[in-house]
Amino acid sequence: MEVIKIQVNGRNRTVHCAANATLVDVVREQLHLTGTHVGCDTSQCGACTVHLDGDAVKACTILAVQCDGSTLTTIEGLAQNEVHHPMQQAFNECHGLQCGFCTPGMIMSAVDLVQKEEALDPAGIRAGLEGNICRCTGYQNIVAAVLQGAQGMKEQQS
Ligand code: FES
Ligand code: FES
Repeated sequence: MEVIKIQVNGRNRTVHCAANATLVDVVREQLHLTGTHVGCDTSQCGACTVHLDGDAVKACTILAVQCDGSTLTTIEGLAQNEVHHPMQQAFNECHGLQCGFCTPGMIMSAVDLVQKEEALDPAGIRAGLEGNICRCTGYQNIVAAVLQGAQGMKEQQS
């Protein structure tokens, strides 16, 4: 067993895990943060996307032991004081989801994309989210949601 210390959604946590446990295993099965989904386990779908030290990563591709000392944000950590993050709000208002399975990963990737790209247009959003698959194929509304969410994030900062 390995011991890792990690800050998760603002709380310091200590986790005991196998050396070969992936980050998503620890997030879902030990931290019980089941908003992070597993759609493929092979780095294809993006359903497992979280923010590790400020960057969007696919949690099925990283060993938990590699995250010792890191800061992790999952979909459960995006809302603040029970108020949805602007990107969550936008997905809700634009109906950027159907079954919702891809949605947590899609939102985590979208927030990271908006934080790193100054000017985003629909083509840039589609390119930026190419690592996230929506099996319901609701991409039109997802792109609309990310555009609205980007605007909301900008307004929140100003
Ligand atoms: S579950 Fe990680 S990319 Fe699909
Ligand atoms: S909303 Fe169903 S997989 Fe995207």
